[in-house]
Amino acid sequence: MSKNVLITGGAGFIGSHLVRLFVNKYKEYKIINYDLLTYAGNLENISDIETADNYTFVKGDICDSELLKQVFEKYEINAVIHLAAESHVDRSITDPLSFINTNIIGTATLMNVARGYWKDEFEDKRFYHVSTDEVYGSLSETGFFTETTSYDPRSPYSASKASSDHLVRAYYHTYEFPVVISNCSNNYGANQFPEKLIPLFIHNIKNNKPLPVYGKGDNVRDWLWVNDHAQAIDVIFHNAQNGETYNIGGNNEWKNIDLIKILCKIMDQRLGREVGASEKLITYVKDRQGHDKRYAIDATKLKNKLSWEPSITFEEGIEITVDWYLENEDWLNNVTSGAYQSYYEEQYKNR
Ligand code: NAD
Ligand code: DAU
Repeated sequence: MSKNVLITGGAGFIGSHLVRLFVNKYKEYKIINYDLLTYAGNLENISDIETADNYTFVKGDICDSELLKQVFEKYEINAVIHLAAESHVDRSITDPLSFINTNIIGTATLMNVARGYWKDEFEDKRFYHVSTDEVYGSLSETGFFTETTSYDPRSPYSASKASSDHLVRAYYHTYEFPVVISNCSNNYGANQFPEKLIPLFIHNIKNNKPLPVYGKGDNVRDWLWVNDHAQAIDVIFHNAQNGETYNIGGNNEWKNIDLIKILCKIMDQRLGREVGASEKLITYVKDRQGHDKRYAIDATKLKNKLSWEPSITFEEGIEITVDWYLENEDWLNNVTSGAYQSYYEEQYKNR
């Protein structure tokens, strides 16, 4: 049976890597990228595949059930990979309602449209919900998140993602809706909007601007190369059983300040600056409200059941990433012009 896959959020950071992977790898599939093109969506991210025969872009909101119904009918959608979301924790602290709307109402709207179009007959259908490790809350020095860790979200962003995960599981239990969920750790790589730590700091180092480190810089994140996340989604999409959850992670924990120093070092080398020049930009600022201390994923299930492991080391991935941002100056300049400036001033003015 041919697959007509609706990927939501395919103009964003992770979505664009996933769309490229599927369009190039599965020529027999039809890939429909459905994205509202918010500030985080950018068709430039996927300009290399926009004319492919098996690819179509539709600009639309996941809360718009009428447009979604038309898209399901027109393209005879039989699988969904759902990434569209509001994704930045700091924005969720200043504007929680847009997260509740997109991440909760949007996910429920999308599932309702899929159920209606599939007429509650789910053979050969799939609804893959892409989620985050932040739903599990915050760890202290030890321990890992597994697929059975209790949910304990602590920011409006993670609470909205947790709510959407609960709804997805509720649809599975109530209607036998054919769901799969994955919860991934922090991604890094090309095309990430420079509001997130790594691209923001590369951009600031390049422009000799202060590096705003929240609190003491001792929070810990577990970083995964975005291309490896896309590969993991591919493997899970094609092999998981309905109702299953998989954690995805790089087994690659870094204290923020240590990661930032590595970035500074690579940037000094690339920009021909003297050793230690970029580190001087480090500025400790007021902490994020409710800042989660540590995330760490146990991805043993994915390794044992589906033989997935990251393809490259962090040392390789971070160099590739820095080089991408330096080589794609136009991309960085385009996304940091206009509204980005006022966002940045507003977000960092009282820190
Ligand atoms: P992103 O912010 O870069 O991209 C989100 C995309 O969704 C954008 O293209 C945007 O235009 C689109 N979008 C937003 N609201 C929409 C709406 N109402 N209707 C249609 N499209 C809409 O996000 P990302 O970092 O690529 O994250 C993608 C998904 O992966 C999210 O669900 C996020 O929670 C999850 N995730 C992200 C990470 C990470 O480290 N970035 C880690 C784990 C899970
Ligand atoms: O864990 C997965 C999550 O990772 C995803 O679900 C989210 O969509 C994604 O945004 C990311 O969330 P984080 O809050 O961990 O990522 P962020 O890049 O915003 O911040 C990483 C760490 O760096 C965090 O401890 C906060 C800190 N930080 C961030 C910024 C933007 C700073 O110290 N200064 C900053 O200016």
